[in-house]
Amino acid sequence: MKSAGPMRSVVISRQKPLKLTTALPGDKSISHRSIMMGALAKGQSRVKNFLTSEDCQNTAKIFEAMGVKIRREARSKNRLIIDGVGLKGLRKPKTTLYCGNSGTTMRLMSGILAAQPFTTRLAGDPSLSGRPMNRAAAPLILMGADIKGKGAKITAPLTICGRQLKGTTYRLPVASAQVKSAALLAGLFAEGPTTVIEEIPTRDHTERFFKYTGLDLTQSGHKITLHPGREPRPFKIEVPGDISSAAFLIAIGLLVPGSRISLKRVLWNPVRIGIIRALNRMGAGIKPSCLHQQGPEITADFEVSPRALRATTVQPSEVPSLIDELPILMVIATQAQGKSWFHGVEELRVKETDRVASMVDQLKLMGARIGVKGNSVWVDGPTPLRASKTPLQSYGDHRTAMSFIVAGMIADGQTRIKDTACIATSFPNFFELLVKAGAKYSQQQTAG
Ligand code: S3P
Repeated sequence: MKSAGPMRSVVISRQKPLKLTTALPGDKSISHRSIMMGALAKGQSRVKNFLTSEDCQNTAKIFEAMGVKIRREARSKNRLIIDGVGLKGLRKPKTTLYCGNSGTTMRLMSGILAAQPFTTRLAGDPSLSGRPMNRAAAPLILMGADIKGKGAKITAPLTICGRQLKGTTYRLPVASAQVKSAALLAGLFAEGPTTVIEEIPTRDHTERFFKYTGLDLTQSGHKITLHPGREPRPFKIEVPGDISSAAFLIAIGLLVPGSRISLKRVLWNPVRIGIIRALNRMGAGIKPSCLHQQGPEITADFEVSPRALRATTVQPSEVPSLIDELPILMVIATQAQGKSWFHGVEELRVKETDRVASMVDQLKLMGARIGVKGNSVWVDGPTPLRASKTPLQSYGDHRTAMSFIVAGMIADGQTRIKDTACIATSFPNFFELLVKAGAKYSQQQTAG
């Protein structure tokens, strides 16, 4: 009944208590940035607990195609040694650079590539090729970049003709760490300072990494300014466990009766733990211990077990701190007493898939009381979930696939989730950890 590794369809039903104590693979956002910063520093950087997911491997391959040597340690593939080439050392790649499913790769790379003395082409899979790249291109174009894609949304494939950029001041029209980071990375190569103004704080891993590697970055209120002229210093880091992946295990710990999930060295960055704050308002009682400064970031250990949960309201200002966790939070809200509201979730519509549509439509098939009102999603609970008569569709989106697998663990009957191989884009050992926790499920390699 069980197996680890990628697969197409998963069939899962109610679970007996699941018990797991584990550390998690490295945070996806920080893993991407560790490759970028390691490549742009001159000399050897070492990264432990790098996330060996498809998304992050694509970022690594892109730098390898531009002449950066990245070695995986023989003993463990998630330990990297990066021979950084410095800000002026990237070489023109021979082929199109492939970003796969990864919006972070395409948007952040646009910032770096816009300033190179050569032309590059960036491509992605069908999902990424439909996502808007104009948001990252906008500040870069203001800085003098030449970026071309399809239509008004500047969708991939992108052609980026490197230019000498000029620093600018840019107020983010959407709360997006990817857009902020693209502008700041471009700022490393620009003449004069680059300032990004963000009304709502978004994940700050780029800023933390810049400071950690000795770059001149200042922050005052909502303003973040990079003063160019320095090169990042090589570094050694251990990437904290991914809180976005942890969210699925946290949900299991809260929802599957009798379970106990204990997580070690998880990223505990204030702008990433909106999920913990929301869950604690709901009564989850998650308390961090062993708080530890790990390179530029902070980590914590914590334990989760089932609790009686009550509904909560997530305000638009909180959304960036839990954006990737909203799908699983919606599943959790189906089991909480009362009506939960998730306000200002329009950005969820432009992720790997339209996650508002897929979560709402498919949780309804499981009997959830869930709906959309303008830019808000509401969920009324507690509602017993049941297996949907038709298979649930991930539409190739890793986070919705994992959300439905967790929903299937507390539903009556056998829940079938199609197209789950995508989970490898962010959480390659998800199934391995489920098996370790004692989960039972079956898999089918067919299109299902
Ligand atoms: C990310 C930022 C977020 C997040 C994505 C990773 C990053 O996207 O959803 O998974 O690493 O900067 P936006 O910046 O588009 O909100």
